[in-house]
Amino acid sequence: MDRARLADLHAREERRFVEANPRSRELFERARGALLGGVPMNWMVKWAGAHPVFVARAEGARFTDVDGHEYVDLCLGDTGAMTGHSPALTVAAIAERARHGITLMLPTADAIWVGEDLARRFGLPYWQFTLTATDANRFAIRLARQITGRDKILVFNWCYHGSVDETFATLVDGRVGPRSGNIGPPVDPAVTTRVVEFNDVDALEAALAHGDVACVLTEPALTNIGIVHPDPGFHDALRALTRRHGTLLIIDETHTICTGPGGYTRAHGLEPDVFTIGKPIAGGVPAGAYGVTEEIAARIGRATTLEEADTGGIGGTLAGNALSLAAMRATLEHVLTEAAFERMIAVAERFTAGVEGVIAEHGAPWHVTRLGCRAEYLFRPDRPRSGAEAAAGQDAELDRFIHLYALNRGILLTPFHNMALMSPATSEADVDHHTAVYRDAVAELLGG
Ligand SMILES: Cc1ncc(COP(=O)(O)O)c(C=O)c1O
Repeated sequence: MDRARLADLHAREERRFVEANPRSRELFERARGALLGGVPMNWMVKWAGAHPVFVARAEGARFTDVDGHEYVDLCLGDTGAMTGHSPALTVAAIAERARHGITLMLPTADAIWVGEDLARRFGLPYWQFTLTATDANRFAIRLARQITGRDKILVFNWCYHGSVDETFATLVDGRVGPRSGNIGPPVDPAVTTRVVEFNDVDALEAALAHGDVACVLTEPALTNIGIVHPDPGFHDALRALTRRHGTLLIIDETHTICTGPGGYTRAHGLEPDVFTIGKPIAGGVPAGAYGVTEEIAARIGRATTLEEADTGGIGGTLAGNALSLAAMRATLEHVLTEAAFERMIAVAERFTAGVEGVIAEHGAPWHVTRLGCRAEYLFRPDRPRSGAEAAAGQDAELDRFIHLYALNRGILLTPFHNMALMSPATSEADVDHHTAVYRDAVAELLGG
C-alpha cells in the first residue's frame, strides 16, 4: 500500500466533500453552538468527511441529505434500521398507538403478542423489555449475578455489547485491562471481568474453572471488530463448559439477527440461558428485550421480592412502553419475516460476490465475509479467528478513505468498520452501485 498515494487521494476526497455539502456545513457550524462537539451523540464525530451530512428524509434503503444528495444506506443505523427506513406497516402502527397513549407504566396486549413471537423465533419462553440492547445486556448480567451469587462475568476479547461497564475490557499482554477509549470507567475492569479470545476453548475452560463467573456474555459470531465466525464445535464447547461450571450463557443477538428470522440461535440450534436483543426489532423505535428459559425464570422468581421490584437495578420508566411494543409487534409481524430475510440474504450474497471479484481482480491481500444479510471487508488476507486477530487487521486510514470515497458517490457505510447491511428494500442495483464504486476506489488506490 502506497501511503502517500492514499493521503493524496484522501485529501482530494475531503475537498470534494466540502464543495458538495454547503448546507450540511452550515448546519454543522450552527450545531457547534448548541451541541457538544456539534453532534447529538459523540460517535457522530466519527463520520468520514469534515462533518456529518445532515439528513432531510429517509425511506426504505435510501436517504437524502439537506444538500439534496441521495444515498444508498448500507449502514442502516448500524442495524437499528435493518428493516429499511420507516417501513409502512410499522409507521401505521406507531401513528395509531401514538393517538391512544404512548407510555403508561401499565401493560398493553401488544406485549403478550411480542413475547409469544420472540418465544417462537428464539425458543426461550419468558421475555421482558428495555429501551436499548445495552440495557437488555445490563439487566441480563445483573440477573445472572443475582441468581448465581457470583460476581464476575466473562466476555471475549474485542467484543461490543453497548455501553456496559463490565464489557469494556480487553486483553493486554494476556492480562485484563480497560479497553482504550473507555470514558470514566467506575473500576478497573479486571475486578468485574474475565476476558478470553473467541474460539479459544482451553482459555475459556481455565477462566471458568475459577468458579466465580456468573455468566458468559457473547454474540454468537463477533460482529463489532469485523465479523469473526465461531470455529466448528466452538458453540458446543461453550455450552458444555458453561453448564459444567454453573455459569449462565447469555447470547446477544442484537446484530446477529442478520442471520435469519430466528437469529443465529435458531439457525444453529444454540441453547442460551438468557437471550438479549435490541436495535431493529421495533423498526428503529427504541426497544430492546431479554428472554430467559423456564429454569432461569424460576430462579429469578425465587431471588426477587415484590417490595423491591422497582429498586433492583433493573428497570427504566419508559421500558416496555406502549409505543415501543406497538412498533415491535408490527415490525416482527410484517417486516422481519422469513420472506424478507430470504431476499436480504440473497442481496448480501451478491454484495459479497461483487467485493470478492474486485479483490481478486487486483490480487489484494484482503477478504470479505458475510453473516446472513450483513457483509464486511477487512484489510487482511484471511478470516480472523479471534478479536485480537481482527483488531490487528484494522486499518483506520484505509477505512476512512473508503468511507469517504463511497459517501462522495452516494453510498453510506457504517462509521465504525466496513460493514454493509441489507434491508428488505435494498435492491440488486444498490449493491451493484456499491461494487462499481468499490472497484473504482481500489483501482485508484492500487493502480490498474
Ligand atoms: C452486539 C451488540 N449488543 C448491544 C449493542 C448495544 O446496542 P444499543 O447501543 O442500541 O444499546 C450493540 C451496539 O452496537 C451491539 O453491537
